[in-house]
Amino acid sequence: MPRIGMVAETLVNTERRMLKAMLVNPGHAWTLDEILASCDWQDQAIAVGAGLGLADKGLVTAIESVSTEVRLAANGQTAIQTGLLEGRLWDWLSSTEHPTINKLQDSFEKHESGPGVGLLKKLGITLDSGTFSFDNGDAVADEIEARQNFLVGLPVKFTDADKTMLDHFKSRREFIELIDITQRSWSLTETGSTIAPKSLVETTSINEITPELLQSESWKDAEFRRFDVSLESATPRSGKSHPMQSLIERIRHIFLEMGFSELVEDYVQTAGWNMDALFIPQDHPAREMQDTFYLDNPKSIELPEDLMNTWSSIHQSGGDTGSTGWGGDFSKEISQRGLLRTHTTVNTIQYLARNPEQACRVFTVDRVFRKEAIDRTHLPEFHQIEGIIMEEGANLQMLVTTLKTFYAKMGYPEVRVRPAYFPYTEPSLEIEVKWRGKWLELGGAGIFRPEVTEPLGIKHPVLAWGMGLERLAMLVLGLDDIRQLYISDLEWLRNQPLI
Ligand code: PHE
Repeated sequence: MPRIGMVAETLVNTERRMLKAMLVNPGHAWTLDEILASCDWQDQAIAVGAGLGLADKGLVTAIESVSTEVRLAANGQTAIQTGLLEGRLWDWLSSTEHPTINKLQDSFEKHESGPGVGLLKKLGITLDSGTFSFDNGDAVADEIEARQNFLVGLPVKFTDADKTMLDHFKSRREFIELIDITQRSWSLTETGSTIAPKSLVETTSINEITPELLQSESWKDAEFRRFDVSLESATPRSGKSHPMQSLIERIRHIFLEMGFSELVEDYVQTAGWNMDALFIPQDHPAREMQDTFYLDNPKSIELPEDLMNTWSSIHQSGGDTGSTGWGGDFSKEISQRGLLRTHTTVNTIQYLARNPEQACRVFTVDRVFRKEAIDRTHLPEFHQIEGIIMEEGANLQMLVTTLKTFYAKMGYPEVRVRPAYFPYTEPSLEIEVKWRGKWLELGGAGIFRPEVTEPLGIKHPVLAWGMGLERLAMLVLGLDDIRQLYISDLEWLRNQPLI
């Protein structure tokens, strides 16, 4: 057993006060109200905190019990103010000569006369050919009075409440409600009751060290308050970036760290750059209205003739690339149509067109648009993480390693690739990441085809990829609904971890 004097020293002021109060009647189990009153506290949290501290030190035991209380609900409240409906009906009925249903309907409003008849019948009043009659008026009056008294007597403990009345009012909407109440009480342990009250002197305790305190000599005699870092406390709320923004920042850091430069471009583009340049045939289903948002303004964006001629010859016959092309017709009008980019590959390809010779590593994290019906995993507006590496000797192995490195840095070391198809890459890959034991597809990748690179005068192999940002966000944040990212649910946002 610890020395008693020592114990008192380890207590904080609130604990001392509570213990001292309890020692006045050592055998008693103290309720929260009693503690508040004898300690002269208003705040429950102080009492609960002190109780916890004393319990930790083995000086008191805390007993928590949950009991149910029967309280008045909204309609019960009204019934007390205006009288129970059956009470008012009864007053009317017993003082009216030849009470009939018609007279009742004249004297009461519809919303009362309707349910009223039912209430009267249940009280034993009969309605025969439109006229009310009853045998035992006293019993009716007694029952109504008992009901009224029951309501007036609320709140009561559930266990003390009259069973029949309880059942009766439970069947009426919002007359009563049952509330669970946690009651706390504390009693002294054997050790607690041996503490001498006079050892429990409250001292000025210091919980913050200030320059003033240090300059003065007073700290020498002061008592310092200990902090219990394991106690629950309010979470400080401060401004922070939206999780999507933080995630984008993190992705940027990773690519910058891997030697990439960032590309930021417009999302209004031409079908020519978005698709023709990427050797996507003009009759490709993805071009149709259900996938692409074509613009009314600008409906068309002028493109250089020679550029369109090159695409045209590539598409129709493969140009000088050795490919046979897609055959069929090529429309320059289609090329010049304005649209919202459907992928960020439209930007990397233009970057390559401007810089065909210089080896590069470029990435972009930006918004793309597709006509998708909104659901748990789809949005019409989302983001892609796009990147290219152009370098002499760049090869598939390098592409896979780069993607694996990226995901490993994001915290997903298990990555696999599977064969896929895109009109602009060969070979083409699908990237999958293992998450909670399942493989999830996060994007596409590949090496740009000669039909894409040769007309632009690109000198080296180009490794390219485009991955979904929202999909990745779902993994990072553990979401099962993509919409959560954009609905500005403040409570959810506050509880998000720092990414
Ligand atoms: N653009 C493709 C998409 O939107 C992804 C991709 C990018 C595939 C680059 C291969 C190369 O899904």
